[in-house]
Amino acid sequence: GSIAAPNTWACQRITCLQHHNPKLTTALEVLEKHAQLRDGNSDYSRALAFRKASCVLKSLPHTLTDIHQLRGLKDIGNHSAQVIEDILEEGFSNEVEEILNDPWFIKMKLFSSVFGVGSAIALKWIERGWEKIEDAQNSNDITSDWRVQWGLAFHDDLTSPVLRQEADNLLEVIREEATKLLPGVIVEIVGGFRRGKMSGHDADFLLTHPDEGSEIGLLPQLLQRLQKRGFLLAGQAEKNSFTPGVLKKDFKLSMKGQLDHFEKWIGIMKLPKSFKDKHTDPSSIIMPTPGSDPIDGSLDYQPSRKKAKCGISGLSPWELSRTERAWCARRVDLIISPFSQYYYGLVGWTGSKHFNRDLRTYSQKVLNMKVTSHGLFDFTKNQSIPAHSEKEVFDILKLPYHEPWQRNC
Ligand code: GTP
Ligand code: MN
Ligand code: MN
Repeated sequence: GSIAAPNTWACQRITCLQHHNPKLTTALEVLEKHAQLRDGNSDYSRALAFRKASCVLKSLPHTLTDIHQLRGLKDIGNHSAQVIEDILEEGFSNEVEEILNDPWFIKMKLFSSVFGVGSAIALKWIERGWEKIEDAQNSNDITSDWRVQWGLAFHDDLTSPVLRQEADNLLEVIREEATKLLPGVIVEIVGGFRRGKMSGHDADFLLTHPDEGSEIGLLPQLLQRLQKRGFLLAGQAEKNSFTPGVLKKDFKLSMKGQLDHFEKWIGIMKLPKSFKDKHTDPSSIIMPTPGSDPIDGSLDYQPSRKKAKCGISGLSPWELSRTERAWCARRVDLIISPFSQYYYGLVGWTGSKHFNRDLRTYSQKVLNMKVTSHGLFDFTKNQSIPAHSEKEVFDILKLPYHEPWQRNC
């Protein structure tokens, strides 16, 4: 018989990292990735359909054996159902196998694995006849985007997974420095690590302070200290662009993508290789040269040319990446939230991406509420509603509270 949909929305269901249908979800996520790369930013709908189906399978309490068990579930579209059926019956899906062997898909995946490269740039590189990362690395006519330049130079480092232990060690360093600057500061690991992942493509940290306003000015000072200790490789700081007016607009229009208005630093840090395998006393860590003095005193580093030199080492990103070094380049996001927005920010930056997306759609359609990383607006009551804990965010949204590790859809 069919399994009654336990709940209609992904944000109402429990979805853990470990589940009973990895073979099926892996296949569906290949199709999702393919749709993302093919449709770019213009059309999420195909990719979303596969993600929704995969998400249902992740929340099943058993291994699916018969497609009829999914009958009536709104999140299983025809295309996904067909693929699931093929795999249940044949052990594989022709469509998925073809994608995995498609040279275009392989190249698109490879190129979009470079920091700063989305499907549009990846497509351009393919059109130039490039096949390998080295083709882009060797080209001297390349985008001036600092992310792409560092992303290419440190591609090997940046595509090797960031380990939980590295994130934990970095958390201690950041906490230590941030606390010196602002006693009582709250620093949380967010993103995949907060959801219990053992590795990820980056490490995300959310900072706040219960004394609203005291967090202003923290980020530049924190970055300066991290830079002094040799942790910064390259990055870009963004100012807080939040105003109540902007929030109202966000509440009315639907906010594009994942963008928010928090002050943040998106960048690449140098983590000692020793961070990978042991707990490290944070105060003992000072990074070795060369490259220990990054980016000529500026916290924004956007070299205009590939061969631009950096730091006292005078090396280009590429040359720096070739040096004997005791560190690994790692993507890091630092986000600063005012305390009054913190719990919404915490939910937003914990994710998963799909959990957030589902949460927003659910809030809008079921509750006539708009939720963002900055707050929540109830259109029926025509007022915004503050939250003083993560649990309160769920309460306001009339959802059962789910721990971060249960939000892995
Ligand atoms: P891995 O890093 O691969 O482990 O996955 P992740 O889930 O940590 O993804 P990522 O680091 O890209 O993002 C972390 C969480 O923050 C996700 O839930 C995203 O939806 C969310 N996120 C990413 N960028 C933004 C942003 O600009 N604004 C907001 N509000 N959320 C974001
Ligand atoms: Mn992350
Ligand atoms: Mn991130």
